[in-house]
Amino acid sequence: MNYHKFDVVIVGSGGAGLMSAMQLAHNSSIAVVSKLYPTRSHTGAAQGGVAAALGNQEEDHWKWHMYDTVKGGDYLTDQDAGAILAQEAIEAVYDLEHWGLPFNRTPDGKIDQRRFGGHTHHFGEGPVRRSCYAADRTGHMILQTMYQQSVKNQVRFFNEYMMLDLLINEGQAVGVVAIDLRDGQLHVFHAKTVVLATGGYGRAWRITSNALACTGDGMAVAYRRGIPLEDMEMYQFHPTGLYKVGILLSEAARGEGAYLLNSEGERFCIRYAPTMKELAPRDMVSRFINQEIAEGRGIDGKDFVYLSVAHLGKEKIDEKLPDITDFARNYLGVEPYYEPVPIQPTAHYAMGGIPTNVEGQVVIDEKNTPLPGLYAAGEVACVSVHGANRLGTNSLVDLIVFGRRAGKHIASKWLPEADFGQLPSDPEQRAREQVESLMGRTEGETQDAIRQELRDVMMDKVSVVRDEQGLSEARAKLVELKDRYSNVRLMDHSRTFNTELMEVIELGNLLDCAEATIAGAEARKESRGAHYRPDYQQRDDVNFLQHTLAYQSARAGEPELRYKPVVITEFEPKERKY
Ligand code: FUM
Repeated sequence: MNYHKFDVVIVGSGGAGLMSAMQLAHNSSIAVVSKLYPTRSHTGAAQGGVAAALGNQEEDHWKWHMYDTVKGGDYLTDQDAGAILAQEAIEAVYDLEHWGLPFNRTPDGKIDQRRFGGHTHHFGEGPVRRSCYAADRTGHMILQTMYQQSVKNQVRFFNEYMMLDLLINEGQAVGVVAIDLRDGQLHVFHAKTVVLATGGYGRAWRITSNALACTGDGMAVAYRRGIPLEDMEMYQFHPTGLYKVGILLSEAARGEGAYLLNSEGERFCIRYAPTMKELAPRDMVSRFINQEIAEGRGIDGKDFVYLSVAHLGKEKIDEKLPDITDFARNYLGVEPYYEPVPIQPTAHYAMGGIPTNVEGQVVIDEKNTPLPGLYAAGEVACVSVHGANRLGTNSLVDLIVFGRRAGKHIASKWLPEADFGQLPSDPEQRAREQVESLMGRTEGETQDAIRQELRDVMMDKVSVVRDEQGLSEARAKLVELKDRYSNVRLMDHSRTFNTELMEVIELGNLLDCAEATIAGAEARKESRGAHYRPDYQQRDDVNFLQHTLAYQSARAGEPELRYKPVVITEFEPKERKY
């Protein structure tokens, strides 16, 4: 057995994982286990900014940020978490600045800030400049900055190791099992603490802004070990994905003054959201686009509308939006200096995930009982700070605030008391069986059709709009796909960089995440945030002002669902108007 022993094993090397590592680096042994080389983590794809009420451009207050987060989340946000996010964002952004992150600057040298959807001043009076940014590559800069700092602080990296199993013994997390993708060998990481920071699962949809690696690995592994997944039905579509390709075109474009046009050349958002217009929250703007398309005002009768940036002028485009305009040139052959860019909503972000408390500890039931030794942070986790819909640039804040809190809690509260729990007698067993059954199978279908059909059914039945019939069809399809997956076979049986093996394991993870998503969506008979049901158009606070917890059951497609209350501290649910 390849055996390693560390105080803390962090799985995932994006912003949340590295931010946790940074809090721990000085006084404990830490390993970061990552499926990717760290600077390829999906945090690097975040574009437009990181929200914090610095007030560098105009008056701002963390309470307004908290209010916007709660209202943007359609009141499913836990408000204790929302308060922490908004308050601690300020300090966390200054940490990044001090570590060398090259933010854009105001003329007097402060961190520059721009507008983003749903961020307002004075509790909704009008848009505010709150998102700190580095052109349209803020996530890239965060990732590079934190990776450099982690290397400097001697964090030990195990790159291109994919987690296959989470080890829990006698009620405590005691490590993980990972496969070294270079040679196919299994490794056991024995730890006092495991931090899951593996990101989201956008690859379950056909059109997505998510990188190939975003396959819900942490969520699925935890789910199979009896940990619930929270609010998985709350999946965000970003309004402006590049048509057909799904690549993100940052909301920063609209923050800088770009607008959306339908086939009649109309700025249709003004009709739906007269105050915030294109800067209404994403769930709403995605629905506006959907409705325009459904009513025949998509461009040329097709399923896209235009994002127009040309009026911003070359200089501003080059300074503030260089990457996304290049995407339009390179992928669609459109020149944004002069031409509008075709866009459509794209699967972007999981508001749900592994439930945690505000210290990042994973909690396993309606009473928020922590599982000792297990933490989660970033998109894999559900604190729940984003509720039913995340505001733009609140994801990078979530990473740095709750990654930081998890690291600090581990360092100050958990490690001083914790011992290494005992490993189970054959720690590799489940992972070994998973790999060997895939490697040994010579009959059955390959993964391709299963993957494509999953992405199609999620896109067609579980996207911006979902209803009873579509969800029930999606569930039936999922059961069929899981059944076919149980016989999937590989073409490549080598052990060296077997990317087919990795992809098949990822597909299994996506199927489990999709299962919890569909079940939560079917059971939530209301419309709230990103979960819009034409058959239940109203938000129903009497029955559904609560979080869904999905536990895997023995029956495919039918997780056990339980519910827990939303934490409301100061903002009572109201109608959302923008
Ligand atoms: O539009 C964007 O730049 C995306 C930001 C985010 O998802 O927070």
